[in-house]
Amino acid sequence: MLGFFVLLFVFANFNELTARNPCAKQFYTPSGGDDVAFGCICDANYCDDIEPLGVIQSDAFVAYVSSEKADRLDRIDYHFTGFPNTSNIVQIDASKTYQKIFGFGGAMTDAAGVNLVSLSQPVRDRLLQQYYGPNSIDYRFTRVPMASCDFSTREYSYADVAGDFDLVNFNLTQEDFQLKIPFIKQAQALVAQLGDTLKLFTTAWSAPGWMKDSGSMKGGGRLIGEVNGKYYQTLANYYKRFFEEYHKLGIDFWGVTPENEPTAGLDPNYRWQAMYLSDEMERDWIKGVLGPTLRGSDVTKDLKIMIGDDQRGIYPKWADTIFSDPDAAKYVDGMALHWYEDLFVSEKGIAETTSKYPDKFMLATEACTGFFPWEQNVLPGNWKRAEMYALDIIEDLRSGVVGWIDWNLVLDQIGGPNWVNNTVDAAIIANATVDQFLKQPMYYALGHFSAFIKPDYKRIDVKLDLHQVDGVAFVAPDGKQRVLVMLNRNKNDVSFSIQDQKNSVRYGNVLLEGRSMKTIIWNM
Ligand SMILES: *[C@@H]1O[C@H](CO)[C@@H](O)[C@H](O)[C@H]1NC(C)=O
Ligand SMILES: *[C@@H]1O[C@H](CO)[C@@H](O)[C@H](O)[C@H]1NC(C)=O
Ligand SMILES: *[C@@H]1O[C@H](CO)[C@@H](O)[C@H](O)[C@H]1NC(C)=O
Ligand SMILES: *[C@@H]1O[C@H](CO)[C@@H](O)[C@H](O)[C@H]1NC(C)=O
Repeated sequence: MLGFFVLLFVFANFNELTARNPCAKQFYTPSGGDDVAFGCICDANYCDDIEPLGVIQSDAFVAYVSSEKADRLDRIDYHFTGFPNTSNIVQIDASKTYQKIFGFGGAMTDAAGVNLVSLSQPVRDRLLQQYYGPNSIDYRFTRVPMASCDFSTREYSYADVAGDFDLVNFNLTQEDFQLKIPFIKQAQALVAQLGDTLKLFTTAWSAPGWMKDSGSMKGGGRLIGEVNGKYYQTLANYYKRFFEEYHKLGIDFWGVTPENEPTAGLDPNYRWQAMYLSDEMERDWIKGVLGPTLRGSDVTKDLKIMIGDDQRGIYPKWADTIFSDPDAAKYVDGMALHWYEDLFVSEKGIAETTSKYPDKFMLATEACTGFFPWEQNVLPGNWKRAEMYALDIIEDLRSGVVGWIDWNLVLDQIGGPNWVNNTVDAAIIANATVDQFLKQPMYYALGHFSAFIKPDYKRIDVKLDLHQVDGVAFVAPDGKQRVLVMLNRNKNDVSFSIQDQKNSVRYGNVLLEGRSMKTIIWNM
């Protein structure tokens, strides 16, 4: 008996001393201009996590660092000093506040479900914990495609019986029951443990094929007939029915967009499910049919309706068209944004749009790397892609965006499955053969934001003038805690000193290693 107690005591102490599990590094051949490539391997017995912040002393600050060469959200403790050790002052001004943060997340696609199912139960559970569990990167959002998209193993809708305007044959599919619902419920339970509610949102990639002038989900095309005719009403009912069916299963959604990437539907040869809506068509459908239909049901009346759900280039025009009509605008809560043009289109139009429409939020709803046809889809351990994520999140947040949602939560070794071979990279890659998963650098890039910038934090002013170094800062609802995320894209180290409030004689001196990022946290 005594021995048993002693053992317990030793274990408890051990746990306290090793506050976090470090990355189990696996090195790969560097690619895309990187010198070093590594990822973190997790299995049934082990996974790295994040050391909790705990209480920060008034003269102290904490940084979490990730870098190309060595670190993955490793903690460093610092003390403020009375002098800056460099002339690079990063000036924080919490008296200037901007948008309130909603949160971060990823997508529970059919492909993500296939990969979760490919792992044993304990590994699967551990994977979901990496996104939603304690000491994880703390996702609060999950995007769920309505029926099939390219990241499915087949093309299907919930109403594939032609001419079924009353939707009497509407049914959810095996994909919902086996690949999405069990994992959504697990994610919901994990977020509930934090006292929050997981925010789910959805959209269709296409209406059922028989409702389109092309006759198929695949490829572009539009709904048959006049906007707000029989087909538009049927699709609005189809949306409502989807929410009602999920509600019966105990799952309620937070938001919806009228259509995924509506401009893609202009291309009749689009390689997967797509459907065309112009800004005017979306406005008229929301105003005449979709808005009233969703607001008219108890299950769907509080859904956040977001317009757009397409690339940067559609803004501000898309918003102007819809918000200049008060009868459409009254149904709309926000705007949704995809990232696939971000290498070519600056964030200027987004900043312009969010400042023009302060009552409508802008949420980034889809992003992935490795999508260009000439790229290798999955690049294990690639830092460049983490850097692309981090820079894009900073640009979007500085432009008034309230959250940033990644694409597939997990993909396989080649970046699938995807029924049209549109394979891409993901923050987590499953390795079913060995029952393990790989946490890519992109996972940590996202975590630098999502693990520390919690819902209801507000963006505040940051002034910095450093080549290829970017930053964005936030204040907690308590008005005291600050979170500053800094990204260094230079090969060389950069030193800077944080000064919170002008004329403050307290400085936080930090070295930002070449090609690294740091999330820095302190109290004022
Ligand atoms: C849904 O309905 C279609 C058509 O009635 C049927 O072929 C299919 O098997 C059904 N799926 C499920 C999961 O019940
Ligand atoms: C996807 O790739 C596989 C294997 O290369 C091929 O057999 C299949 O035809 C491709 N499918 C499409 C839709 O391109
Ligand atoms: C998956 O596991 C196999 C077998 O150990 C290994 O050869 C492969 O490199 C692993 N893939 C990744 C991305 O780690
Ligand atoms: C400034 O101080 C930080 C933190 O102690 C240190 O890491 C860095 O090397 C210093 N930079 C310079 C230029 O002395």
